[in-house]
Amino acid sequence: MVRFLNIALIQLLIVLFVANVLEATELNVMDKCWRPNPHWRKNRNQLARCSVGFAGKMLGNIGKGVTQYKVTDPSDDPINPKPGTLRYGATLIKGKKWITFKRNMKINLHKPLLISSFTTLDGRGVSVHISGPACLVVYRATDVIIHGLKIHDCKAHLPSSVMGPDSKIIQLGHMDGDAIGLVAAKKVWIDHNTLYDCEDGLLDVTTGSTNVTVSNNWFRNQDKVMLLGHDDGYVRDKSMRVTVAFNHFGPNCNQRMPRVRHGYAHVANNYYQGWTQYAIGGSMSPRVKSESNYFVATKSGSKEITWKKSSRGDKMQWKFFSVNDFFENGACFSPGKGVGKVKPNYSPSERFTVADAKNVKELTSSAGALQCTRHSIC
Ligand SMILES: *[C@@H]1O[C@H](CO)[C@@H](O)[C@H](O)[C@H]1NC(C)=O
Repeated sequence: MVRFLNIALIQLLIVLFVANVLEATELNVMDKCWRPNPHWRKNRNQLARCSVGFAGKMLGNIGKGVTQYKVTDPSDDPINPKPGTLRYGATLIKGKKWITFKRNMKINLHKPLLISSFTTLDGRGVSVHISGPACLVVYRATDVIIHGLKIHDCKAHLPSSVMGPDSKIIQLGHMDGDAIGLVAAKKVWIDHNTLYDCEDGLLDVTTGSTNVTVSNNWFRNQDKVMLLGHDDGYVRDKSMRVTVAFNHFGPNCNQRMPRVRHGYAHVANNYYQGWTQYAIGGSMSPRVKSESNYFVATKSGSKEITWKKSSRGDKMQWKFFSVNDFFENGACFSPGKGVGKVKPNYSPSERFTVADAKNVKELTSSAGALQCTRHSIC
């Protein structure tokens, strides 16, 4: 009995200690929603209620009829996926599926992986590396959460066929070699991933994709980081809306954090650890509200944060607006001339309180895939 009490007491002390450590670092609005819960493993779907920004709450990923699927096999067969593999779960299981990983693993994708609608990839609790030749694509799908993965070394890929959603073989064109590509995708939340060293870029949001939140990710070691908007001629991207919040960019990032065409981006509370050419840029009258970010210029790189490209047919009305940003090492932001404020106009479930830029280093200090230990706080 005494012995049992001792163990209970020690456990209680550990919980109190961890809770204290966690309280000492302030969590951002999305993390605060689930990370303090010591029983997060039993309540994984709590995460879906934590997103803010243009993805809104991911309520389509939870509720009745969710298939819990565990990846046990890191191998990959792009045409006949084996049960237990990531590709089987992400493409062949119908309806809502919440995908976790049994143990630490390295998954090499031989061809692009098409993630179907109502899919959650949840890497919490283990260390999951996804790398090329090909990587992740959300193609004409909605309601997708990508959380807690390390995605890197993705390479360009020749046209090929792969198993797609609903057991249909899909013919894919040339792929540039991005870690994550959204193609005509809607309602996607990309949270707490670590992305680096890919052939083209780390994240592409293109061809009519919208309602996307990119949060708590760590982007590093990359020339072209994030592209929002397909090409100058693709005017449908005018309705693209993307929230980029609480991410850590750098070290060793050159440009496109993000590069925006046509659409609207709310870029808030991100930590920029240097850039060589520029941080935020675009063409075709993009609208960007840069709010309470922490920009640190490097000694050798450009001090100017923005980059504005004029293209044929462009009215050259970049609505780049900076509010409450924090600048270090001579970093400077040239707003578009004569532009008014460009507000995100969030709905109540998308809206969030943007923190003071001075707190951004702390609020992004655990950006990237989290290391959650067994039976403890994440
Ligand atoms: C984007 O989200 C808004 C707000 O939930 C919704 O009204 C709109 O239909 C969505 N757009 C698309 C293209 O799904």
